Amino acid sequence: MSETVNVALGARSYDIHIGPGFIQRAGALLAPFARGALPVVTDDNIAPLHLERLKEALRKEGLEAKPIILPAGESTKSFAGLEALSRALLATGVERGGLIVAFGGGVVGDLVGLAAGLLKRGIDFVQIPTTLLAQVDSSVGGKTAIDVPEGKNLIGLFHQPRIVIADTEVLSTLPKRELLSGYAEVTKYGAMGDADFFGWLEENGAKALAGDQAALSQMVAHSCRMKAAIVARDERESGERALLNLGHTFGHALEAAAGYSDRLLHGEAVAIGMVLAFQLSERLGYSSAADADRLRRHLESVGLPTAIAGIPGARASAEAILAHMRHDKKAHEGALTFVLAKGLGQAFLARDVPDEAVTSVLSE
Ligand SMILES: NC(=O)c1ccc[n+]([C@@H]2O[C@H](COP(=O)([O-])OP(=O)(O)OC[C@H]3O[C@@H](n4cnc5c(N)ncnc54)[C@H](O)[C@@H]3O)[C@@H](O)[C@H]2O)c1
Ligand SMILES: [Zn+2]
Repeated sequence: MSETVNVALGARSYDIHIGPGFIQRAGALLAPFARGALPVVTDDNIAPLHLERLKEALRKEGLEAKPIILPAGESTKSFAGLEALSRALLATGVERGGLIVAFGGGVVGDLVGLAAGLLKRGIDFVQIPTTLLAQVDSSVGGKTAIDVPEGKNLIGLFHQPRIVIADTEVLSTLPKRELLSGYAEVTKYGAMGDADFFGWLEENGAKALAGDQAALSQMVAHSCRMKAAIVARDERESGERALLNLGHTFGHALEAAAGYSDRLLHGEAVAIGMVLAFQLSERLGYSSAADADRLRRHLESVGLPTAIAGIPGARASAEAILAHMRHDKKAHEGALTFVLAKGLGQAFLARDVPDEAVTSVLSE
């Protein structure tokens, strides 16, 4: 049931270990990289549920965890959060040759990765992701960042972890909505680059979401394998890595229009965004209505929203959403860049999508 995926980046290569019960093996897996005491950064939702087990696993191998517990939530990914964490890390006495553990979802992973990359000009870190989104996406690939009022993830750097440990059992305590949010990113891998995997998800996705550890491990591993292959070819997103943004141009705009509130989680926005991207692809003659429909039906079947009308609360106009997209970093000289598709599993980058096509898809 356990799988290992390698991220091939020359001297910065690393393994992702995936499977149930891997927290218990964390000590043995980290022992080659660490000695003595090591800071373990987590948040105040995860700590009461899982920190004791991790501490115990480290203790067995002679490693002493020094926990730093951050307030849960996106607002921790800020300059204030970075300052507080950096100073807390310094207080542990961590040195350049040391190791910092990020034990949490994308918020903890992004912030710890950035702090580790900056502290003493770069300290090694490891990711132990505890959300589905973090296991299949944010813990892999080395992007780190904080948010500023000007936008999300605008201050950051590339800093690859030394190892990633994804314990699929940890996902059993994740709220259903957060689990589904991560599943949107899983579906993205199929819709973007692997029609067979999309078919596998239609068959097995619900089982994995219900906690079947074999299906879950296979699903996380396949997602990581796809991301690892892309990152290995295009670490700094000068080309192909941008395909991982399928559904994200629409998605980010919807998140912004919802004020980044609990009304719409990131993955929920991506689910709606992917359906819109396929509808836009259909409108521009690249893909069939059947593919857009198949994607929508699958997302709907697991309980993800698939239309703007499904977002609770005040509805943003097509013009307001378009304005957010223009504001997004992906807008170049007037024309909007989108990840479109020639069918399920066949995404490509389209650089000059006409506004009219976008507005008409949005207003339907
Ligand atoms: N670096 C990247 O490449 C990348 C990619 C995608 C997303 N991100 C970033 O990731 C962040 C979102 O990550 P996320 O969805 O993991 O959010 P998150 O870290 O906020 O976690 C979601 C919620 O689940 C809780 N939680 C985490 N693990 C749990 C568990 N096992 N049991 C119970 N509760 C648990 C958290 O406390 C939090 O309340 C965003 O900031 C986004 O920008 C980064
Ligand atoms: Zn995403």
